[in-house]
Amino acid sequence: MFPEYLESPLATSLVGKAIADAVVEVDVVDLRQFGAGVHRTLDDAPFGGGAGMVMMAEPLAQAVESVEEPGHRVLFAAAGSPLKQEDLDRWAGIEHLVLVCGRYEGVDERFADSMVDEEVSIGDYVLLGGEAAALAVIEGVVRLVPGVLGNPESVVGESYRDGLLEEPQFTRPAEWRGIAVPDVLVSGNHGEIDAWRRRQREERTRSRRPDLWAQSDDESSPTT
Ligand code: ADE
Repeated sequence: MFPEYLESPLATSLVGKAIADAVVEVDVVDLRQFGAGVHRTLDDAPFGGGAGMVMMAEPLAQAVESVEEPGHRVLFAAAGSPLKQEDLDRWAGIEHLVLVCGRYEGVDERFADSMVDEEVSIGDYVLLGGEAAALAVIEGVVRLVPGVLGNPESVVGESYRDGLLEEPQFTRPAEWRGIAVPDVLVSGNHGEIDAWRRRQREERTRSRRPDLWAQSDDESSPTT
């Protein structure tokens, strides 16, 4: 509904560069052109009553059908299944993704049932629409496309890929406002640095994401 919402993020930073370099292509479809009547209406009141409006199935269907290269269709909704890194990994290998952004209280379920492959949420909170979620997915997928990141190694040790959060990072100066970086990081002892980083990852995961920690292989064999 708001193509202009996507403009600046798609023109900025590495996503903007990947698009400018034709490593990826993003086509934004303006839903409004498929709206009903002279007012190009996209929503209507819910059957059964209730607050808010529902996006009608037909404009959404026509928008999806207008896409030249049909692909894997993802709908963003607060009631979707939670987006995971593994979804992004999977989608990065798909040639054409169609990302459908809902607005209002939701979309007519018949559209979701018949024209969408997956319905996902980017978190347990309610946004005004799916555009911010679509941008999150575009950013998460584009960085996995070969050639986008200078160093392909940088997607390997990162948070979520192996079920642990990343360790804290420090850069110069070695002392900032009276706070020194941890001694071990300036010790030059790479064995100790690796062990420290591992413990930090475990500790962070345990305290910040007990849900991830409970699923982690490490939980049963802590290195601390
Ligand atoms: N639309 C509204 N809230 C959303 C959420 N949390 N994730 C994805 N799409 C949404």
